[in-house]
Amino acid sequence: MNLELLIWRQKSEKETGQFISYKATDISPDMSFLEMLDFLNEGLLKNGDEPVEFDSDCREGICGSCGFMINGQAHGPERGTTVCQLHMRHFNDGEKIVVEPWRAKAFPIVKDLVVDRSSLDRVISAGGYVSVKTGPHADANSILIPKYVADRAMDAATCIGCGACVASCPNASASLFTSAKITQLALLPQGHPERTRRVSRMVAQMDKESFGHCTNIGECEASCPKEISIDTIAKMRREYLKATVDVE
Ligand code: SF4
Ligand code: FES
Repeated sequence: MNLELLIWRQKSEKETGQFISYKATDISPDMSFLEMLDFLNEGLLKNGDEPVEFDSDCREGICGSCGFMINGQAHGPERGTTVCQLHMRHFNDGEKIVVEPWRAKAFPIVKDLVVDRSSLDRVISAGGYVSVKTGPHADANSILIPKYVADRAMDAATCIGCGACVASCPNASASLFTSAKITQLALLPQGHPERTRRVSRMVAQMDKESFGHCTNIGECEASCPKEISIDTIAKMRREYLKATVDVE
């Protein structure tokens, strides 16, 4: 396949960026999108040009490192798929593809397609954990949890922290990300003792990081590579309301 790529190039947060056009030739349909960019970068390096910077690590859809906009869609056109798992067979020969970084105030651009997502880490640090002494491993059957509850908690726990939900939300809200962690912990008995403090602190941190507010648009759910349900945001709101009432 031959493609025309319009890629956002920006040397640093302080400098102005712009789209640069590249020809990508002899691309195999079996390459992943990141492998296609690796291939492009090899050519750029051979010509003494700067390679396009992007984040990646596992390339198996589990670490959350990768992510950028492809033709205006977070992680590209395939539902429930990270860019490292997106293959070039989903594009057409001769197609023009626009590639740009996550755009959100809370995600400053580091370089090209790389953004600083440490704001998400600070939301987790504010309360996205269980601070109990672990001790010996408990017998698996000593705390019984209904299967449907365990399934909901597991679904919420699949969030990989990629930030696609923020990037695709017109308000740049981190509500899906934050609510996934709050839901996972609030549903399980281990998370109950700290649930009030957790939701208050995480929501406060989310606001402090300049993420926008959720207005139920739903782009977050549509773009999430782990298909986290927007129901988790409703759960977060109920937890927050309960915490506020408890405080009063
Ligand atoms: S909720 Fe989905 S889109 Fe948002 S950070 Fe988690 S995995 Fe990524
Ligand atoms: S590189 Fe780990 S999820 Fe894409």
